[in-house]
Amino acid sequence: MKAQVEIIVEREGVSLEEEKGSDVNRILAVEGYTLLDALLDTGIALPHECGGNCACTTCRVFVEAGAELLSPMEEAERDRLILENVYQPRIRLACQALIRSPNNSLSSDLRIKLLIPPS
Ligand code: FES
Repeated sequence: MKAQVEIIVEREGVSLEEEKGSDVNRILAVEGYTLLDALLDTGIALPHECGGNCACTTCRVFVEAGAELLSPMEEAERDRLILENVYQPRIRLACQALIRSPNNSLSSDLRIKLLIPPS
């Protein structure tokens, strides 16, 4: 059975309650989804100019917590962030970061906390 992960999303400077109604800043996503798909599926707008092909950085998010519940950053993603001068270990391209099960199956904190840019 695939693990479900809770994603807490905050938009810089804006309350998502104001943007979308109550409680939309907590979403559930199943492992195997990208962060971008999880956000878009629940109606949270995140730019994705290149359509999820690791060719822009418009889908970038800041991972405040739960980075271990995401696939490791691969070379193409790192190179793209470096090229755009926005590389930091906690910044991920939402289209490249896959939600995954924790390595330690005893872990009960299946929560990712994201900060996304203003829309
Ligand atoms: S949508 Fe362009 S890099 Fe993610």
